[in-house]
Amino acid sequence: MKVVILENAAQVATYGAGLFQRQLQSKPDSVLGLATGSTPVALYNELIALNRDGEISFQHSRTFNLDEYLGLAGDHPQSYRYFMNDKLFNHVDIDKANTQVPPGNADDPLAACAEYEQDIAQAGGIDIQLLGIGRNGHIGFNEPSSSLASRTRVKTLTQATIDDNARFFKADEYQPHLSITMGIGTILESRQVVLLATGAAKAAAIKATVEGPVSAACPASALQLHRDAVLIIDEAAAAELD
Ligand code: F6R
Repeated sequence: MKVVILENAAQVATYGAGLFQRQLQSKPDSVLGLATGSTPVALYNELIALNRDGEISFQHSRTFNLDEYLGLAGDHPQSYRYFMNDKLFNHVDIDKANTQVPPGNADDPLAACAEYEQDIAQAGGIDIQLLGIGRNGHIGFNEPSSSLASRTRVKTLTQATIDDNARFFKADEYQPHLSITMGIGTILESRQVVLLATGAAKAAAIKATVEGPVSAACPASALQLHRDAVLIIDEAAAAELD
């Protein structure tokens, strides 16, 4: 696992966007693994600008998102499908038919999880997977205690994650406690993994990821086992590293 420490969040976004730029330039039909949350938004803005300037195209690419709230349809403003349309897909030359987010409103969520795995495999696997990290070390919605071999599945969210994400929901709005998420095993099969972390709130999780044992107590620590994983973090997130 490689760790790149940069001064601030803007530099983290630029460095991360550069990796996606190179991936798309060298393989226009790349399969991209994408994430939601606050952290990747600046990177998405850079990709939108690169697309507008003709530096990159998404025309031949496919995307798979990490996770989705179970119980929210894609047109719900808090759904991750809505987020991806709003933050990236609506602003670049991608064919939305080639973008996949786990279906939060599936009639049969378990079957939908198996289909998601099949779709990733049929696309040839993920070339480059973007990740954020939760304060408790989660990646996707793989909360602490998730099996390191886990596949796409229905997963309960911890109270810590529900609390952290409450900021996106209105006070009287229903906030799901279940999700569909790629598993840690699924993520580890991506050919390249790029994890972004910024801010002091992530410092303890980054320390556990980089310097802790590989353990389900910190799901991101599984990236130590990946042959091409890079953590791009700012100084605040790196503050607790030895
Ligand atoms: C989002 C996801 C989550 C977030 C994590 C950090 O698709 O899978 O693991 O990456 O919760 O979120 P932010 O970036 O909002 O701190």
